[in-house]
Amino acid sequence: MARKIVVTSALPYANGPIHIGHLVEYLQTDIWVRFQKLCGNQCLYFCADDTHGTPVMMSARAANTTPEKLIEQMHKEHEADFGSFHIEFDNYHTTHSPENKHFSELIFNRLDEAGSIIKRDVEQAYCDNCQMSLPDRYVRGTCPRCKAEDQYGDSCEVCSATYQTTDLINPYCATCGATPTSRISEHYFFRLSDFEQQLRDLIAGGHTQKSVANKLDEWFKAGLKDWDISRDGPYFGFKIPGEENKYFYVWLDAPIGYMASAQNYCDRNNLDFEEVWNSKEYELYHFIGKDIMYFHALFWPAMLIGSGFKTANKLFVHGFLTVGGEKMSKSRGTFIKASTYLKHLNPEYLRYYYASKLTNSIDDIDLGIEDFISRTNSDLVGKFANLASRSGPMLAKRLDGQLGQLDSDGRQLIDKLAGAKDRIIQDYEQRNFASVVRTIVALADDANRYVEVNQPWTTVKTDLEKTRVTLTAVINAVRILTIYLKPILPKYAEKVATFLNVAGLQFADVGTVLENHKINDFERLFERIDEEQVNTMIEESKESQAAQPAGGEAESGTAEQFKPECTIEDFAKIDLRIARVIKAEPVEGADRLLRLELDVGGPQRAVLAGIAMAYKPEELVGKTVVYFANLKPRKMKFGLSEGMILASGAGGKDVFLLSADPGAQPGQQIL
Ligand code: MSP
Ligand code: ZN
Repeated sequence: MARKIVVTSALPYANGPIHIGHLVEYLQTDIWVRFQKLCGNQCLYFCADDTHGTPVMMSARAANTTPEKLIEQMHKEHEADFGSFHIEFDNYHTTHSPENKHFSELIFNRLDEAGSIIKRDVEQAYCDNCQMSLPDRYVRGTCPRCKAEDQYGDSCEVCSATYQTTDLINPYCATCGATPTSRISEHYFFRLSDFEQQLRDLIAGGHTQKSVANKLDEWFKAGLKDWDISRDGPYFGFKIPGEENKYFYVWLDAPIGYMASAQNYCDRNNLDFEEVWNSKEYELYHFIGKDIMYFHALFWPAMLIGSGFKTANKLFVHGFLTVGGEKMSKSRGTFIKASTYLKHLNPEYLRYYYASKLTNSIDDIDLGIEDFISRTNSDLVGKFANLASRSGPMLAKRLDGQLGQLDSDGRQLIDKLAGAKDRIIQDYEQRNFASVVRTIVALADDANRYVEVNQPWTTVKTDLEKTRVTLTAVINAVRILTIYLKPILPKYAEKVATFLNVAGLQFADVGTVLENHKINDFERLFERIDEEQVNTMIEESKESQAAQPAGGEAESGTAEQFKPECTIEDFAKIDLRIARVIKAEPVEGADRLLRLELDVGGPQRAVLAGIAMAYKPEELVGKTVVYFANLKPRKMKFGLSEGMILASGAGGKDVFLLSADPGAQPGQQIL
């Protein structure tokens, strides 16, 4: 009987582009889902953008747009990237949706009624200037252990120490440079420990891989801690019911986004959500990376159990992508965006390469550039496409595209290929794609050997009918191998189906043989990769990153994109003038700020500038600078700032004021 299966991949953050690291997961899942469908099972693949949280809010602010607009744009880009890699979701939704709001409130209320939500005061860093609470990653300062400067609020990238934000020496707000203050605020907590026994039972029942279970065991031993699920406004997310300025933490509503995507799909396709999501009729599997195990193996099942929903049948955890044995790196050009890859290479090369490396373990998988090139050229071009190009064109040109019948040698080859079906199916089911690929490659070697032995290019000169018999076996070999490869190489399979003049290529078709059948003209299937293409892609990844703002990864930074277009008319509104600094002084409580008084030709103006790390006040007096005169005055905690002086540089000590001709007249217009 056909199985009914629901599958999810983790929801990618909406504050950055899809990169080749993400693709490990979406390709692994897509291959598995396609495999299930090819077996005739009903399989629904749901995903969505993970849209809430501080990074999205800050990216939107920096880009001078709204979070809603930003996530809409990202949604389009993510969908386009996934589509280009032939990742076929049944629904790609968003966590910023009415369905998700509904389920987040429902689950929260049910957990609350069950007594699993408590309130407690917490001390948190707050920036008076930005008027917001600062998540760990938005506070920077000197590492309390190794004294390295400019480290994040939770860990040091130099000595790997982890600590509390309050331990940082000379902390400052990563956005504006002001010294954060500490505030007490009441937060909501989910009592994870209420579910300890159920979680232990779940894991003991084989919910996830052994190595994951071992890790979870460490967490159980350390004791399950209450989970802070609220954030104070301003925050981009859903308001907590009954609260004015408190929101659900992004990680509360993110996994609920799986349900929201399912609900949205059910509504649009007249399906019963309760049956699809919550009944035993459907199996449920989550694919995730090992960095988010805690959320998916502990918080998420506990939330589901506590609110009366079923938990997944299995949680499939994969490892991380390394490139050349190292973490993806922007400076080395190995932080390759999906869209950059697509400009240079065929997406199916990466699908195949990842498949050849993926198993059901949580070990990291490595993309070796040389290995990638040689595997593509030797397997895809040299083995699979070659088999087709050694048979198709000759059949079409010399034998009218007409297949004959198998002889006993041909039958033997085809039986061997068809006989591998069960093993291949088992390996796919177990997510042992590396083993699937090894088996297929070995079979392709057998088929290519058959061609060598039978030499159709020689017999075609003397014995056309014998040649037809040989090519009939080769074409059938191509067909069977293509069925096996179809979850990995869907476009290739489509092209082969067209050329073989057959409708669907399903696993059920492996046992049938094509005889006395007319095929179509041959179309080239794969091109060799030339090392230059890969080098160009890596070079381009270096360049495109250099122009981007720092950060950009997951929770930590800003969206890697330019601000919306600005017309020349918009630009002309800016009034740039010469100003002379009359007075400069430090601002108490804000290490990075200086208060400047400026002569701009008329009444003096006061400006707060975040340049204290780069300039001493006395250096500035008398300097002529470029001044943005008609910027709307901004009320900041440390006073009113009227306009802005222009500078360039990376920030911190690297700030360079744009100075004007020292003899220029204050007030003189530049633009
Ligand atoms: N938004 C969260 C997931 C919420 S799920 C309810 C998130 N997003 S992410 O964009 O950072 O990552 C999405 C998925 O891609 C995660 O499962 C993550 O493990 C995976 N990967 C991201 N970078 C990766 C590599 N470099 N290598 C392999 N997988 C990686 O986490
Ligand atoms: Zn700030």
